[in-house]
Amino acid sequence: PLVSTGELVSAAAAESRGIAAFNVITLEHAEAIAAGAERAGAPAILQISENAVKFHGGKLAAIAAAASAVARASTAPLALHLDHVVSADLLRAAADEGFSSVMFDASKLPYDENVKATADAVRRCHERGLWIEAELGKVGGKDGEPPLDAHAPGVRTAPSEAAAYVADTGVDALAVAVGSSHAMTRRTASLDHTLIADLRHAVPVPLVLHGSSGVPDEEIRRAVAAGMVKINVGTALNTAFTGAVRAFLEADPSTVDPRKYLAPAREAMAGTVAGFLRTIRA
Ligand code: G3H
Ligand code: ZN
Repeated sequence: PLVSTGELVSAAAAESRGIAAFNVITLEHAEAIAAGAERAGAPAILQISENAVKFHGGKLAAIAAAASAVARASTAPLALHLDHVVSADLLRAAADEGFSSVMFDASKLPYDENVKATADAVRRCHERGLWIEAELGKVGGKDGEPPLDAHAPGVRTAPSEAAAYVADTGVDALAVAVGSSHAMTRRTASLDHTLIADLRHAVPVPLVLHGSSGVPDEEIRRAVAAGMVKINVGTALNTAFTGAVRAFLEADPSTVDPRKYLAPAREAMAGTVAGFLRTIRA
């Protein structure tokens, strides 16, 4: 069934467990995530990023309807989340397209502007009944240096700043920089577990780990034990999917029916989803 992100995250936080959020680009992603969740007997969040919406010609409705239909038809509790939103128009569209939550990404802005833009987004989302996550990046610029990528290795979220940010913006969850990095194709990241525990105590809302594809199972388990709640996974699904497509087409270059290679690719992705869910719920 289609459930809300807020209820899944709150239940996970109350039980000191993690809840995984997987990125959806195509219909096959949504189907694979539902299959993996059913296999693992766990709930999950289907998230569509602003970049994925751009891939669909800037149109949110079709992929949102597909993901939401997959969620409704599934025996696993699945929620629909709009990820890494920068566009105000897209933020406005979310509630009408069946999303229960969004991640508003002002992390590239200097701290004060991030707070202002995010507080405004929180007001607009809460008016529409949407749960909202935001990200506090470690933004440079104070000494004339350029803004830093919040996920770059060596960049971290400060607990005192995170506490002030949550109080000043009213966000429902906070994405933090604790050592993970987006788009890693190998699981070699190591997280700052002391910082996760410090953030967990400083911040009253659930914490979110982005870039979890590059984080080894044991590091994810420790992060959840230290208080990380929402675990975002994207790239690992594409690694499994594309690897299966490549293997199939290499073995049979004459294939033209996409179902021939999409079926094993979707199946490989479902296996990856189930693997992350078992790790996170363990
Ligand atoms: O918001 C999405 C996640 O941060 C995905 O990151 O593709 O590196 O797993 P990833
Ligand atoms: Zn992310």
